[in-house]
Amino acid sequence: MDHHLATLNLKLITCLKSLTPCIFFFCFLGELVSTSCPLDITPPRVVVRFGDSLSANCTSSSNQTEGMGWECSYGGVDFIYGVSSLPFKIDSVPEWEIGPMCYVNLHDGDQCVEVLPVTVYKMPDSVSLKNLSTVEEGQQFAIQCDVVNVAPARNLSVLWHKGNYIMKSETFDESSPSPVSKSSVLTLTAHRDDDGAEIRCEAKLNLWPQEQGPPPVRSENLEMTVGSEISLNCTARGNPIPSYHWEFPNFTQVWNRSHDVNLPILTASSKFPGVYTCTASNSQGTVTKYFIITEAPRKFLAVH
Ligand SMILES: *[C@@H]1O[C@H](CO)[C@@H](O)[C@H](O)[C@H]1NC(C)=O
Ligand SMILES: *[C@@H]1O[C@H](CO)[C@@H](O)[C@H](O)[C@H]1NC(C)=O
Repeated sequence: MDHHLATLNLKLITCLKSLTPCIFFFCFLGELVSTSCPLDITPPRVVVRFGDSLSANCTSSSNQTEGMGWECSYGGVDFIYGVSSLPFKIDSVPEWEIGPMCYVNLHDGDQCVEVLPVTVYKMPDSVSLKNLSTVEEGQQFAIQCDVVNVAPARNLSVLWHKGNYIMKSETFDESSPSPVSKSSVLTLTAHRDDDGAEIRCEAKLNLWPQEQGPPPVRSENLEMTVGSEISLNCTARGNPIPSYHWEFPNFTQVWNRSHDVNLPILTASSKFPGVYTCTASNSQGTVTKYFIITEAPRKFLAVH
């Protein structure tokens, strides 16, 4: 019996060091003998913050129970004869992966093991946005959300919000149970309706039923500024080469470099609607072209 127990203990310790495959082995073993394994752990699984306390209780329902113990890389409880329930407690969870296992010895020499699945988590140190510059209407641009030091990243979601809408949500394939940093990139095409829209990202650990657990960590808000510009092309052919003269409303706001704009192509902002007049002239004559800019910059009219 003692030899048997020692072998089991040795296996358990080996398993705690070599992680998942062995845990699966024990789950499998547990399933094989489940009809006769009388162990019940409450709670059946634990989600605990790194450094917080953890406690559970293992109970044997068999009247053949000889004794019980808890195996764990930290905080194990030595085999105790004559008990049919045994608590397990750690004051401060010191590791990112622990797999406490409760075992029972029965009078007939059988043993069985139950694993208490533990998820150790840590909320991110920071969540921040970067790479948003002034964007051009109709152009793609990218924003990156950096989530620093979060665990376990396999249970992380990064949610992208624009105002009240969720535009994108990303999860990560990550096996490390200890803290890692993750980034999510949002690619967008700016539309004029986006001018003034607020974008933020949010890091959330999906470890609890909805609304339970700590609140998601939010980035700052970024306000989008959509620069919508249009080109007015007044290029005229002529010999000698024509010179140009422009007239338009809000002259100084639109074009404050020079009053004598002698260029065939003018870049204007739709923030200044109105009638733009271009005159091309040379010694042979004068041609005038009118541009009417409305609120929508792509729907301007050219009138000859
Ligand atoms: C563990 O469970 C047993 C059986 O339900 C109960 O009698 C005992 O008080 C519990 N121990 C702790 C520490 O909760
Ligand atoms: C964490 O993520 C893994 C992989 O996606 C999943 O199997 C597991 O159930 C999640 N943990 C919790 C506590 O929801």
